[in-house]
Amino acid sequence: MIIAGNWKMFRGPDPHALAGLDAIVCPPFTRLRACVEAGLTTYAQNVHWEPEGAYTGEISAPMLLEIGVTGSLVGHSERRQYFGETDQTVALRVRGALGAGLRVIACVGETQAERERGETEDVLRRQLEVLEPHPDLVLAYEPVWAIGTGLTATPEIAQEAHAFIKSLLDAPVLYGGSVKPDNAEGLLSQPDVDGALVGGASLDAESFRAICETGARIRS
Ligand code: 13P
Repeated sequence: MIIAGNWKMFRGPDPHALAGLDAIVCPPFTRLRACVEAGLTTYAQNVHWEPEGAYTGEISAPMLLEIGVTGSLVGHSERRQYFGETDQTVALRVRGALGAGLRVIACVGETQAERERGETEDVLRRQLEVLEPHPDLVLAYEPVWAIGTGLTATPEIAQEAHAFIKSLLDAPVLYGGSVKPDNAEGLLSQPDVDGALVGGASLDAESFRAICETGARIRS
């Protein structure tokens, strides 16, 4: 069971309030070092594929490794929606990060319009066909319509999508999209839901801790 908190562009809780938690935190770049120093398993929210170069505003895997960061998110839907991330750049980032020794959580998921048009499986296939299995690669299924909206995929929708994803690529799959302490149990109980990628609820130490405890109770 893997529970990861994506703090997005929020400062997030005091890392010391999360001490001892068996979880991953993905803080903004300026908080990475504080999280590492607090003993948390710390991932970046993005990483470039080159070790260095003239890429203003980017960060490289060796730079993250140098300060004790363990891994990175790649291809979050907010990167795809607002910052021009494509399946091709996601593939480059994933390959570069894994090659450099970072772990990766690669995010996939369909928009509301794509789901309504019956394109969910086509979208997942397109997003996944650029990736290869790797022991340090974990996937996150984050339906865009459930992110930050308070709408959550039902456990059945999540299970169906996760099983489909695993039929295409052999990797653990986390669910993301409005995971809260009161819906975590139903989602995390599904056989192909291997954990959660938590946004808003990870900004509050107590609610993040409650989700982690639910996960530990279901699969210890
Ligand atoms: P919310 O939990 O706020 O919906 O965010 C989900 C997410 O995008 C995690 O990466």
